[in-house]
This record gives sequence, C-alpha cells and structure tokens, in this order.
Amino acid sequence: MMRWAALGAVVIVTGAARGQGIDELWSRNCLSCHGKEGQGGGAGTRTLLTDELMDQGLDRRFFDAIKNGVPDSAMPGFGETLKDEQIWALVVEVRELQAAAWRKRVGSPKADRQGVYTTSLHRYRVRPVVERGLETPWSVDWLPSGEMLVTERAGRLRVWKDGKLSAPVEGLPAVSARGQGGLMDVAVHPKFAENGWVYLASTEASPDGKREMTKILRGTLDVRKTPAVWTQDRVIFEAKPEHYSGPGVHYGCRIVFDPKDPGLMYFGIGERGQMDLAQNLERPNGKVYRVRDDGSVPKDNPFVGRGGGTYEQVWSFGHRNPQGLAFDLNGSLWDTEHGPRGGDELNLIEKGANYGWPLVSYGINYSGAPFRAPWSEVMGARGTPKTGGAVRMPVYRWLPSIGACGLDVARGPAFTKWKGDLFAGGLSGANVDRLRIADGKLVEREEIFHGQGRVRDVVCGPDGTIYIVLNGPDKVVRLVPAD
Ligand code: HEC
Repeated sequence: MMRWAALGAVVIVTGAARGQGIDELWSRNCLSCHGKEGQGGGAGTRTLLTDELMDQGLDRRFFDAIKNGVPDSAMPGFGETLKDEQIWALVVEVRELQAAAWRKRVGSPKADRQGVYTTSLHRYRVRPVVERGLETPWSVDWLPSGEMLVTERAGRLRVWKDGKLSAPVEGLPAVSARGQGGLMDVAVHPKFAENGWVYLASTEASPDGKREMTKILRGTLDVRKTPAVWTQDRVIFEAKPEHYSGPGVHYGCRIVFDPKDPGLMYFGIGERGQMDLAQNLERPNGKVYRVRDDGSVPKDNPFVGRGGGTYEQVWSFGHRNPQGLAFDLNGSLWDTEHGPRGGDELNLIEKGANYGWPLVSYGINYSGAPFRAPWSEVMGARGTPKTGGAVRMPVYRWLPSIGACGLDVARGPAFTKWKGDLFAGGLSGANVDRLRIADGKLVEREEIFHGQGRVRDVVCGPDGTIYIVLNGPDKVVRLVPAD
C-alpha cells in the first residue's frame, strides 16, 4: 500500500503541467494502476470497464474520487496538483476507455447471410431508397401524396417519386454553401393538404458575402410541374443583418411542428462558432426557437417583453449546435447537439431553459486538451452558474462523440416494439442509436446501425420504416422489418 501511495505522489508531480492532452494526463497519472485501457491490475486495482461503472450518474463520484482519492484504497487524490478541468478531462478519458470496451464487447448488429440484422427487439433489412444522383443530402420529408422531398447541402431540393429523382426544384433562393452551411432541413407543414406550405432552413450570406446566418423560409411547392416549382411566400426567421457570423460552422438546423398545435413550429440554430453568444438573448446564436407557422411570435414565449434587442422567438438557449430536434409521442421536445469531444448531448427542451454552453460542458477540446469541468469555478452549488439561472444538464451524452445529427421518434406501425423510442444519428460515429426514455431518464441505448456512412438524418417515414440519410456514400436507405 505504502509503495503505491508513494508512486502516486511521484506521478502527481510530473502530471501537474497545464494544457496537456488527456492521453498524456492518463499515462502519467493513472496508467500505472488502471492500465492502458482501464482494465486495472496495478496495485490490485480493479477494472473500470464494468457495466455498473459505465452509468453516467457516477460522473460526480468519479470526479470527486480523482480529486480527493478513494478512502481505504491505493487511489490517491489529485486535487492538489491537477486543475478541475484536467480532472474532468480524466473522467472523459475513463468514459472513452469504457466506450471502447463496450464497442468491443457489444458492438452493433452485423448482417447475416440473408442480409438480416438482429437487434434486441426487431430484425431488419437495409433497403436502398435513393442510391445515385445526390450530393451531400441533408434531410427528407414527405408530401401527403407520397412524394419524398430531399435537400442537398449545395442548395438543391429534389422530389423522389416512383423510384425516380427529379431535376432540382426551381425557384429556390440563393444558398451560401460554405463550410457546414447550405440548404439544410426541409419540413412539410402538417396541414399541407390545406395550405400547401413547405419550409426550408437555408444559409444566407450577408450582402458583402463575408458573413452568414441560418434563415427559415416558407413557400408553396407545385409538384404538378416538372421539375416542381417552389414559390417563396415569406421569411419565417432571419437574424438582424449585423448578427450574421463569420466562422463557417454550427448552423443547426432542424424544423419540427408541435403535435398538439400544428400552427407552432420549432427550430434550432447553432452558435456559429461564437460560443459566448449562446448565453446572450440579444444574439441569435445557439438557440432553439418557437414561432407560429407564419413567423409571428407566440405571446407565451418565455422572453416576450424582456426588452432591449431580445430575440423574442427564443424558446431555450445555451446550445452549441442542435442538429437533431424531435417531439416524442408524449409531446416532449428533444434535441441532439453536436458538442465538443465527449459532449454530444441529448436534451429535453423546456421553455426558457439554459442548456449551459459554454459555461458548463461535459466535453473537452477535440485536441484532447481539457476545457471546463461541469463543476468548475463558474458553477456554484447544484449546477447553478454564479452568473445566475439554473443550467439544464443533458439526459444523455455520447462518449466518444458521435457527431450527433438527426433525431426522430419511431411512430409505428412498421416496428411495433420500437414505438416511442428515439432514433439518433451520428456523423463521425456513422451510427444510429435507439434510445428509450422513461420518466425523463435514459433507460436503454442500443446501437442498431453502424459503419455504412456518415449519418446526416434519421427520419421515421410515413409507413413507420426508418429512413437514414447518409453522406459518404451520399444516399438514402431505409430499415424495413425482416419478419
Ligand atoms: C496508486 C494506484 C492508483 C492510481 C495512480 C490511480 N488510481 Fe484510480 N483507483 C485506484 C484504486 C485502488 C481504486 C479503487 C477501486 C479499485 O480497487 O479498483 C481506484 C478507483 C478509481 C475510480 C473509480 C472510483 C469509483 O467511484 O468507483 C476512478 C474513476 C479512478 N480511480 C480514476 C483514476 C484516475 C483518472 C487516475 C489518474 C489521475 C487514477 N485513478 C489514479 C488506484 C489508483
């Protein structure tokens, strides 16, 4: 015991330098006991790779154990020599090691000889939908008459009908497709049969071409013409011209309608690479918005009447890059956010709430350098930033990050046992996860699809089969029941 305690003291000194990546922090301070992969062994240390220890509810316990040590064990405390953000980065390291072990052990379903994938609740096959002719498809939605609309990031909208992809729809606005921006979501109004409205989320450049912002547009679509023609009807949301941003990242953007009141719509815009603005209600960056289907602000929006230059369309704030947005079957609104490394989040979106970015983050920098601890100096007790106002913590976060993009709920009838579960996609993770929520908590996560391309969008189709929009290869596939 003494020997290992002394060794602990030695490694503590060498690990004190700031700005180290997590791999180095781990190998200098922890590897001697916990092993390269967290398997343990040194000084009789047990494995960190058990299911029980993978519970995200233990984050704070881990943080405190690393900071203060584990009583009556060889585990020393590192609070004297490591900063809080370095200690948090080591919790992220532990989580990433656990995830690697989990992937090795559980992995994701592989096709058998008949092309059938077996998951815990359903067996499915992958069927091609659109295999050719798309370049970076972003999103799909359906008209009541059965046509599928598909956007391409470069600024094209196409119609898929009877196995054929149309020429680009005419009449679309100019789209700035720089960096991660471009033509993003397409959403058909739930009462399309009555009003003919289709909504687009599109990136617009400022007049000097140097800055850009996400804009929400409404128009009608005439599919009797070939190619179909879109006629813009009105701008639903645009930022003030002085609030367009330079960096070509984090535009959002999904559009969803409230199942209880189809005249209400929600969409999310990323912080556009200017993270501090996510906390500023007078700037459009890093928000989830709620407006009427004509763009007007509902009177019961949380920041109506706040004054100053408040964007009264804001529903919630402190978001990094919400690229997934969906109502579940109970009418709760969820988002998935592309966060920093280890900080991809699933959030339950509530009126007026602050989701914390960048004050509080579970992630670290993609370089591996520590960023902030969720319980760092900016935070007081119980997740309340010293700047005031409680921060909502994510219901789940992905480690390693999956590049969260695309979210929907399974509505049936195709996969009855999945009904009500959320399906979340990942770009870098090339995955679709099934998430089951009970009482606001994640009770089940299962990777049901993996390794067939970057997942840009996941949408439950009109028949209940699960559509997956892939980038690289650029195509649309769907999961259909195998039984
Ligand atoms: C001298 C050996 C030693 C060193 C060095 C060490 N640990 Fe531990 N650690 C232990 C032991 C022993 C335990 C108690 C559980 C066990 O027996 O495995 C433990 C427990 C833990 C736990 C689980 C606590 C819980 O609540 O269950 C975490 C997380 C952890 N260590 C992380 C780290 C990190 C990160 C470092 C490097 C900064 C580190 N440890 C360095 C020996 C060590």
